[in-house]
Amino acid sequence: MNIREGLTFDDVLLLPRRSAVFSRKDTNTKAQLSRNISLNIPLISANMDTVTESGMARAMARLGGIGIIHRFLSIERQVEEVRKVKRAENVMIEDPVTVPPETTLGEVRTVMRREGVSGVLVVKEIKGKKQLVGILTRRDLLFETDDRLKVSMVMTKNVVCAQPDVSPEKAKELLHTHRIEKLPLTTKEGELVGLITLKDILERMQNPMSAKDTKGRLLVGAAVGVKDDTVSRADALLKAGADVIVIDIAHGHNLRAIETTQLLRKTFGAKIEIIAGNIATPEAARDLVKAGADGLKVGIGPGAACTTRIVTGVGVPQLTAILDIAETAIKLDVPFIADGGIKNSGDFAKAMAAGANTAMIGNLLAGCKESPGEYILDRGVAYKYYRGMASYDATREKIEVDGGTDGFFRSPEGASGRVPYRGEAAMVVMDLVSGLRSSMSYLGATSLKEFTKNAEFIRMTDSGRTESGPHGVK
Ligand code: XMP
Repeated sequence: MNIREGLTFDDVLLLPRRSAVFSRKDTNTKAQLSRNISLNIPLISANMDTVTESGMARAMARLGGIGIIHRFLSIERQVEEVRKVKRAENVMIEDPVTVPPETTLGEVRTVMRREGVSGVLVVKEIKGKKQLVGILTRRDLLFETDDRLKVSMVMTKNVVCAQPDVSPEKAKELLHTHRIEKLPLTTKEGELVGLITLKDILERMQNPMSAKDTKGRLLVGAAVGVKDDTVSRADALLKAGADVIVIDIAHGHNLRAIETTQLLRKTFGAKIEIIAGNIATPEAARDLVKAGADGLKVGIGPGAACTTRIVTGVGVPQLTAILDIAETAIKLDVPFIADGGIKNSGDFAKAMAAGANTAMIGNLLAGCKESPGEYILDRGVAYKYYRGMASYDATREKIEVDGGTDGFFRSPEGASGRVPYRGEAAMVVMDLVSGLRSSMSYLGATSLKEFTKNAEFIRMTDSGRTESGPHGVK
């Protein structure tokens, strides 16, 4: 047998080359997530239950990337997480949260908490049409102690509204003139058709890099498994506005993963954007693209919380997996994600240089404020909990949720533990992207395509690795 050598990030460095790029600012980090979706930065938060729910997904999209909501939730809860992202920032919210006038204040508080909104529109349903009769905001509820009161007794009745075709400038002017934060859009007959909020306008101004859909809403993805409920889950997620569905299975070159890709493509046609994975060989890339994938996820065992390679002896060192698939992906005209094993911006740059279109991050983002993982405080130092989705802890919880097991013993293929608390995701993302931009300037590239084209790797020895880190400095 001819045994090839596999390499990973720490085995190589990128060769610097003649460059006319003087500043990181002159580099463009626009990247293709899948055939029909592009991002402003090539970063994705992992579909793991200690990494991505709506908070992280919102942060990632605002920074120009995307988050993939994990699938270890009921369909209803996962849909809710997608909707929270879609509602977070809009040119116009098409289906604002509404309540009837007879709702109690206690019920409204629950709705506002569940939907993550700071106010609701009060409507009467007349002949199937929603007639706007009032508005209730967090401020109206602030000092109201009697939760049994009806909304109609507390709401503002004379609501400042605009027509659905109001221009953004006019909307801003109305919000300013009336010192209000929400501008419902109604037809001449008073039917509610949308909502413009001050928060959305401010968010747009503060986050010019945001990754958005055609309606101006933040991009978000959601993961599905290869289970009996996959089609109904995908259907509900698409209806909630998910831009991309990630088929999340440890071995993506399994027949069930191929069949699930085919099934989703057949069921939803062009209405679904599918990313399939995880894989590590060009054959797998070809099979999944043939089955209907619009994007691929590459990485078997490189992740920080992965033990697959130790437990099974299977895997491909991540840089080799990326290099191998890059060639095939170009021929297939399909973008792919480098998933797992990125420890710093240098690894991130090497993944992009090797030909990945984007990178998925678990560990580094798990320590952020926006991740759903638990905080741990140990002797004054803050950490967050992070676990592999095939870890003992995660599988035990899944069994509890899914109800029972088939009694067949399966070794865990993931670890769990704590990672340093890293503050806001923006800090981690900015650090990664800044390193990537600098790397691009070393290689004389202004775009990621050019960066890959200009990349030449050099292998290093253990001494080279020692030399690469800080040394001799106390
Ligand atoms: P990082 O290194 O960014 O990697 O933390 C995140 C990726 O790790 C994968 N993952 C797992 N792999 N067992 C594995 O072998 C697991 O339990 C596990 N959980 C997550 C996944 O691809 C993720 O995006």
